[in-house]
Amino acid sequence: MRNLFLLLLSTVFLTALNAQNQLIPQPKKLELKQGEFVIPETLLISKSLPQHESNYLINRLKGKFDIEISKNNLAEIRKIYIEKVHPDEWYSISVEEKGIYIRFSTNTGYFRALQTLAQLFEEHQHDRKIPAMLIVDEPQFKWRGMHLDVVRHFFNKEEVKRYLDYLAMYKINTFHWHLTDDQGWRIEIKKYPKLTEIGSKRKESMIGPYGDNRFDGVPYGGFYTQEEIKEVIEYAKKLHITIVPEIEMPGHALAALSAYPELACTPGPFEAATKWGVFDDVFCPKEETFEFLENVLDEVIALFPSEYIHIGGDECPKVRWKECAHCQELIKTENLGDEEGLQSYFIKRIEKYVNSKGRKIIGWNEILEGGLAPNAAVMSWTGEEGGIEAAKTGHYAVMTPGAYCYFDHYQGDPQNEPLAFGGYTPLDKIYSYHPIPEELNAEEGKYILGVQANLWAEYILDFKQVEYMLFPRLMALAEVGWGTNDPKNYLAFEKKAVDHFKYLDEMGVNYSKSIFNPSGKVIRSGNGIAYELYMSKDVHNIRYTTDGSEPTINSETYQSPIRVDRPMTIRAAYFENGELKSAITHQRLNVSKSTGKAIELVNQPASNYSFGGELTLVDGIEGDPKVLGKTWLGFSGTDVIATIDLGERTEFSKLYFNSLNNKGSWIHLAGGAKILISDDGVNFKEIGEIGKQKIEEMNGRVEINFVPAQSARYLKVEIYNAGIIPDGNPGAGHAAWLFVDEIGLK
Ligand code: ACM
Ligand code: ZN
Repeated sequence: MRNLFLLLLSTVFLTALNAQNQLIPQPKKLELKQGEFVIPETLLISKSLPQHESNYLINRLKGKFDIEISKNNLAEIRKIYIEKVHPDEWYSISVEEKGIYIRFSTNTGYFRALQTLAQLFEEHQHDRKIPAMLIVDEPQFKWRGMHLDVVRHFFNKEEVKRYLDYLAMYKINTFHWHLTDDQGWRIEIKKYPKLTEIGSKRKESMIGPYGDNRFDGVPYGGFYTQEEIKEVIEYAKKLHITIVPEIEMPGHALAALSAYPELACTPGPFEAATKWGVFDDVFCPKEETFEFLENVLDEVIALFPSEYIHIGGDECPKVRWKECAHCQELIKTENLGDEEGLQSYFIKRIEKYVNSKGRKIIGWNEILEGGLAPNAAVMSWTGEEGGIEAAKTGHYAVMTPGAYCYFDHYQGDPQNEPLAFGGYTPLDKIYSYHPIPEELNAEEGKYILGVQANLWAEYILDFKQVEYMLFPRLMALAEVGWGTNDPKNYLAFEKKAVDHFKYLDEMGVNYSKSIFNPSGKVIRSGNGIAYELYMSKDVHNIRYTTDGSEPTINSETYQSPIRVDRPMTIRAAYFENGELKSAITHQRLNVSKSTGKAIELVNQPASNYSFGGELTLVDGIEGDPKVLGKTWLGFSGTDVIATIDLGERTEFSKLYFNSLNNKGSWIHLAGGAKILISDDGVNFKEIGEIGKQKIEEMNGRVEINFVPAQSARYLKVEIYNAGIIPDGNPGAGHAAWLFVDEIGLK
C-alpha cells in the first residue's frame, strides 16, 4: 500500500516537473523525488571525475556559479561508479539533498551529463535549489548531425569553434564540415598547393535573390591551414563531437578544376564559380583524377579521425561525360551502360580506396544512382526515399530531408526574414520530424543512423546570420535526434525554447524570434475566403488592421478568421502587456471571381510543396518568388489540371496565373496552357491556348484576355510541365518542377 502511494506520488511529481522543466533535449527518463539540493556558495566537483570535462562545466557556468574541482575527497558533484555495460553516451544523474551523483560508462557519457547539469543549474540560477530527481538518459540515434557550408561563405576557425560550442550545448555529436564546392576549396592540401592558392578564391559573389543575377564585384576567399584544421578537430574532441569532413566529387568541383584543369573532361580554363547552383564541369574519371583524389583523401584521412569520410556525390551533371571520348570509352570497356553507371563506378572506386585506409564513405543520396557502393552510407536529402532504399538494402543512412532539415530555408514568413534559399521550415516543422520512416520495419529501421540538419551558406553572409538560421531550430533538431520530441506537445517544447532565449541573450547569440510573429493562412468561408491568424502563443493578443495602417495596441483584437470579401491588406502584430512583441506582418489578398471557389486537381502537388492544398491556387495570395514552400504548389514532372466550379454561370474577360522561373532549383516555366469551359462540368469546350514562347515572353506572369467576354460555371485550366530538363541546366536529364500559383479570373 505504501509503495503504491509512493508510486502515485512520484507519478504526480513527474507530470508536474515535465510541465516545467527546461531541459533540451528532453531526457529519456526523469523522475522527481522528495527534497532538493541547495547549491552552496562554492560547489565542489569530485577530483575522481574526468577533469577535462569538469573544467568545461566550470567555464560554462563561470560568472553564475562558483565551481571548483575538489582537492580532497569532499565534493557535492560525485561519481558513483562507472558502468561500462552502457553505451558511450548513456548517463544518469541523481540529484539528492546531500549531493549530485553521476554515473556513466565513458567520458562522453559524463560530458552529455554535464550538458544536462549545466541546464539544470541555469534554470535554478536564482532560487539556487535544484529539486531532487533521477535522470537516466541516452539518445535514440547515434548520429545527431549539424552541417555547415563554409564554401559559399567562409567562417573562420574561431567561428567554427563557436558553432561547435552551440552544438555541444544541445548534445549534437556530429559536425559535417562542407569544405569544398564550386565556389571555393577551403582546406589546405600540402601536395596540391594550387587548391588553396587558386581554388580558394573567386572573383566576386552573387548578391540578392538568385533570379536577379546580380554580383558584388568583390573578390572573395578563405581557407583553413592544416594547423587550423587540427586545432578545430582537437577542440571538437574536447566537446565529444566527431567532425565528418566533406570533399565533393565528382560534381561541385569547379574550384578544384580552376587549380588543376587537367582533371576535367575539357581543357578549361576554369574559374571558381561566382554564382550559386550546379555546374556542368565536373571531375573526369581518368586515372590522373583518381590519383589526385586519393592523394587528397590521404591528407584528409590523416587529419580527421572520423569513421566516415563524406565524398559528396550530389548533383553531378552528366553533360561533359556524354561528350568526352575518355568517359565514353570507359563506359564501354567497364560495361557501365550509361553515365549513371559511370557515376557509380566513380564512387565505388573511391569507396574501395577509403575502405583500404580503414574508413567508410558516406555520400548524398545520388550515390544510389547506377548502384550503391557496397559499404557506403547514404545521406538522404532530396526526400526520405534515398534513406529508405539504403536501409532496405542493408546500408546505413542519415536522414536529412530538405523539407524538415534544411536550415537555409525560411523559418518564418519571408517578408520578415533575411533573404534565404527558399522553402519554409519553421520550428514546428523540424520538431515534428521522426527519422525512421514508416515504410521501414523494425529490422530495417536499425539502419537509420540518425538525423542531421544542413546549413548551406549561399545567402548567409556572416556568422551572426549563421546563428540566426541555427537558433532556435537547433533545439528542435536536438530533441528529434535524442528521440524525445513529442510533436503533439509542440507548444510545451516551444515554451522551453523560449526559456532558453535568455541564456542565448547572455551569450550574445543572434537567434531568430520568428516564432513570435503571427502567421496567417487563407481558409474557405461560405463561398469565399477568410484569413486565419495563428501562432503558438495566444492569438487573442494579436491586433490587426485592414485599412493599411500599422496595428497598435488600440487596433482591433483578433477573435476569429477575418472575412475577405474585397481586395485588402491585413497587417498584424503580437502584443503582451501593451507592448509590441513581434514584427508587423502583412498580407495582400487579391479577390477575383475565382477566389475561394471549389477546385479539383487531377495530379497532386509534391507533399513538401503543397502547404495550403489545392486552395492555394485560388486563395487570393500571389505566389512569392522568394519562397517556394508556402505560396505555390509544386509539381514534379506532372501537369496542373485544375477544374474550378464557380458556383454559378459567371462572366469573365481575363484569366491569369503565375508560373515560377527558378532554374537553379530545377523549376522551369510552363511549356504551355489551355483553358476550357463547361456548363455541366462534364463536356468542356476549349476557349484559349498559350504556347511556351509566349509564357517565356511574359516571364511566367501569364494573362489571357477574352474578347468578347466568356461565360460559364466550370473552368478547366491545364498548365503543362516543361518536361525533362535540357542539358546545360542544373538538374539536366531529371523531370522539371512546375510551380504554379493563383489562377485569377476577372
Ligand atoms: C545538397 O543539398 N545539394 C546536398
Ligand atoms: Zn571525361
